[in-house]
Amino acid sequence: MRKKYFVQFILLLCSGMFSGVILAATPSASMLANTCVGCHGPNGSSLGPASPTIAGMSKDNFIEIMTAYQSGERPATVMTRIAKGYTNEEIELMADFFSKQKFVRQKQKYDSGKAKLGKKLHKKYCEKCHEKGGSSAEDDAGILAGQWEPYLRYSMEDFTKNGRKMEKKMKKKMGALQKEYGDKGIDALINYYASQN
Ligand code: HEC
Ligand code: HEC
Repeated sequence: MRKKYFVQFILLLCSGMFSGVILAATPSASMLANTCVGCHGPNGSSLGPASPTIAGMSKDNFIEIMTAYQSGERPATVMTRIAKGYTNEEIELMADFFSKQKFVRQKQKYDSGKAKLGKKLHKKYCEKCHEKGGSSAEDDAGILAGQWEPYLRYSMEDFTKNGRKMEKKMKKKMGALQKEYGDKGIDALINYYASQN
């Protein structure tokens, strides 16, 4: 009898130690990324319009964004709180993971007339930094082409109305666009990005 309890005790001790080892180890990138899937979709390509697709963005841009959420510099509904739960090392692991995933575009409704104007405006005001029609990750400015339309709308509002910081030159271009075309210009651009599917 006694011996049996002793064996159970040892087993319990071992399993405790074992799970301790697992907890102490750094979680893998895909384990970390799993906590984002519910909102950002499998491998970072969001299936619903409420959350942006985060697959395929550059590592640098990802790290910059998460850091800006942590400090509160970038306004957000949920991400400021979520970002605070991760260390720099974990953010780097996730940046590496998501940068290697393919940005999967979803079919979205758009107005083709507005998209046509948007294409023209993009060339004039935005292409310099948002290369290849806003589809390149290499410019470190985020992927706009095929991104969810409602998210782009919120993002634009954050820049133009809610004080989200813009790079100096982007601010200048955005100002020029609004002066010449007003909210219509922004609406046209959003339709252009949504049309790239
Ligand atoms: C509860 C839903 C939810 C979860 C969980 C979530 N996100 Fe988000 N994420 C959002 C929303 C919504 C936004 C848009 C900003 C905002 O309003 O917070 C966003 C924005 C982002 C952006 C900015 C995208 C861009 O194009 O600028 C990144 C990067 C991001 N999330 C990364 C992550 C990572 C990494 C995780 C997992 C650790 C995660 N998110 C978990 C909902 C979520
Ligand atoms: C001088 C370079 C530059 C120009 C010009 C520029 N941008 Fe940007 N843009 C950036 C950079 C860099 C970022 C990423 C940093 C950040 O998220 O704040 C960005 C981010 C964005 C985002 C946020 C993406 C996201 O996922 O949240 C949107 C939307 C955007 N730009 C739209 C535009 C539009 C529309 C124009 C043209 C009217 C434009 N930008 C012109 C450099 C530029």
